[in-house]
Amino acid sequence: MSKVKVLVTGGTGYIGSHTVVELIAAGYEPIIIDNLCNSSAKIVDQIEKITGVVPVFQQLDLCDEQATRDFIQEHHITNIIHFAAFKAVGESVAEPLSYYRNNFYSLINLLNARGSRAVNFVFSSSCTVYGQPKQLPVAEDAPVQPAESPYGNTKQIAEEMLRDLTKVNENFNVISLRYFNPVGAHASALIGELPIGIPQNLVPFITQTAIGKRESLTVYGSDYNTPDGSCIRDYIHVVDLAKAHIAALEALQLNKTTNYDVFNIGTGKGISVLEVIQAFETVSGEKLNYTIGPRRPGDVEQIWGEVKKAEQLLGWKAELDLAEMMRSAWAWENYLSEHPIV
Ligand code: NAD
Ligand code: WQD
Repeated sequence: MSKVKVLVTGGTGYIGSHTVVELIAAGYEPIIIDNLCNSSAKIVDQIEKITGVVPVFQQLDLCDEQATRDFIQEHHITNIIHFAAFKAVGESVAEPLSYYRNNFYSLINLLNARGSRAVNFVFSSSCTVYGQPKQLPVAEDAPVQPAESPYGNTKQIAEEMLRDLTKVNENFNVISLRYFNPVGAHASALIGELPIGIPQNLVPFITQTAIGKRESLTVYGSDYNTPDGSCIRDYIHVVDLAKAHIAALEALQLNKTTNYDVFNIGTGKGISVLEVIQAFETVSGEKLNYTIGPRRPGDVEQIWGEVKKAEQLLGWKAELDLAEMMRSAWAWENYLSEHPIV
């Protein structure tokens, strides 16, 4: 029997590449589109090293309407996991138009390209839509707060756009996954996060500091109203997150969800910045050079997800713990220092 094809946009990126590996393991045929603006074609070779399969890869900018339409039609695509987007919060504040342009043109072109074909669509959303929730853990029905950044706004508007479209297209089914904080790398250490320039996110900053690429990590604030004074997040292992996409795709295929549905994807546990550092030091045996600095503007104090809905409806639950997140992130940083990818 021929394998079910799944288009993975942004499939050479951080979360996309891990999802391609899990799709192959689950018996699907992933087809990657990426314009490589934030990743490398070498990731396709890394995927082959892990899986023994060379996935179809097309370097294509989804902002190119004609090329996107031709590709979707040529490959008879009916399953799409859409990761491709710009994702740096600070950059989006400095360059809002480039974020609105890239994240909306790519989504709209992809949706237009499907024509009238029945399509299952999994969208990468973010817990950023909740802002600072009033109640924790935050559930999917909590109010969406005014976005703090153009990046966050692209996620909110994209969710609305997708919901509106499902109302008038019965054969278009969407699941938006609201990721909490994805961290870690594949157990093989052959793929992981590839931050370009100075990392903005905590875990790559920790591993780059420990390996000597950065001098010191600044902990942004120790005077929050949390047990140790540092901010709290729901860190989710990227491999668990990748598997959530397969669960979502299967739920769509089996009509287990409404034709537009939203799920939190996290562990359901809040972990502080200082606890992340402690866990990293324990698994790596490295003493991390860090100082306590002022708060970072725009940071929410604490957030973690209510994750029962994904467990009940998608049959998915995070399995990997903080130690494994740190171990794999550290193994990947060490691999990269010997095998630079970009
Ligand atoms: P990433 O930058 O590693 O991957 C995105 C990929 O999309 C990159 O390979 C990039 O080259 C590609 N891309 C961007 N614009 C494109 C375009 N116009 N045409 C074709 N390819 C394009 O990011 P990631 O961390 O893997 O994130 C994937 C998705 O998940 C994004 O939509 C992001 O907003 C969302 N998300 C990420 C996080 C996170 O912390 N990493 C959290 C919540 C949501
Ligand atoms: C985590 C914690 C920082 C760096 C961002 C986006 C969000 C989503 C995930 C896409 C915070 C602290 C960080 C450092 C630190 N992405 N920190 N020193 O801000 O929770 O979420 O990525 O959708 O939209 O906003 O993640 O990794 O930047 O920060 O102390 O050098 O680590 O203050 O408490 P964040 P992060």
